[in-house]
Amino acid sequence: MTEALYGSAGFYRRPEGPAGHFRTSVHASRYFAAAVLALARAAELDTVVDVGAGRGELLRVLHWLDPDLNLHGVEIVDRPSDLPDAVSWSAQLSDSEGALVFANEWLDAIPVDVVEMTEDGPRIVEVDQATGEERLGGPPSAQDVAWLDRWWPLTDAEPGDRAEVGRLREEAWVSAIGSLRRGVAVAADYAHERNARPPFGTLSAYSEGRQVPVVPDGGCDISAHVAIDACAAAGEQAGATATLLTTQREALRALGLRGARPPLELAQTKPQEYLRGLKAAGEQAELLDPGGLGGFGWLVQCVGVPLPPPLVPRNDDVTAVSN
Ligand SMILES: C[S@@+](CC[C@H](N)C(=O)[O-])C[C@H]1O[C@@H](n2cnc3c(N)ncnc32)[C@H](O)[C@@H]1O
Repeated sequence: MTEALYGSAGFYRRPEGPAGHFRTSVHASRYFAAAVLALARAAELDTVVDVGAGRGELLRVLHWLDPDLNLHGVEIVDRPSDLPDAVSWSAQLSDSEGALVFANEWLDAIPVDVVEMTEDGPRIVEVDQATGEERLGGPPSAQDVAWLDRWWPLTDAEPGDRAEVGRLREEAWVSAIGSLRRGVAVAADYAHERNARPPFGTLSAYSEGRQVPVVPDGGCDISAHVAIDACAAAGEQAGATATLLTTQREALRALGLRGARPPLELAQTKPQEYLRGLKAAGEQAELLDPGGLGGFGWLVQCVGVPLPPPLVPRNDDVTAVSN
């Protein structure tokens, strides 16, 4: 996966970028950037660091919405030449003070090892890079076994059941939390928690908008949904002082997105405004859709600042909070 995605001929280095192959919330609508801006303002942070920034799509809209924001992209791929000058760019995270670190669909692109249960216990799944053909290898390492026991126990697993070991992903998230001297970090991603792991795993591949067989030859994106509770625990260990696990739908609603259609009377009185309102409602509805992007997990962790007020849970509208 590392070679297929990030090697010299890796998928993410292709000129068309991820947007040429799949649609994220960032590509779906400018309202996503508007919500990120609302979050930064609510947390009184004047810097946004976009980790796994793709071709800078989110940063471009943020710059357009508020040219006074300090904007920085962190990306394995080089800085796009047409990015506004005001947006800085680097291959690695560096320390920041007073920043919102935002990672949209970053963690699902961090390589995982796949483990399959057999009659003889768990085995690592090996794959032919050219064909995608799989075979079973040796047992997982002691570190992987410890991770599985804690986060994805295979005690009741049947032969053929699979788990995806998220240790590298947690290291990545720890680097994001560790970069913050003061601020908020958000990971928005396909996610699952310990009480509902997918029994056959989630490894999947996309190319040109279609799901395709998982062949790690650099021709397709390969991703796996995120064990987000494990990332939350790793973030707390790395210094997060407040944590919120919620859904994108809940988070975006709290940040002001509603997806409400404009009043019908407007169609008579101000038809242009009505049409603009309808378009906005459609775009917001896509971001909020509980069966789609709205069903994404949002892991929000703070370092030295409180949870931003709009995200402070009310009643039972979040799944977990700590500290
Ligand atoms: C699925 S894409 C998401 C792009 C963008 N955030 C969006 O939502 O459209 C994941 C991006 O993360 C980048 N990436 C993966 N690992 C990275 C790392 N360790 N440091 C910086 N960028 C990374 C990839 O190159 C890729 O552009």
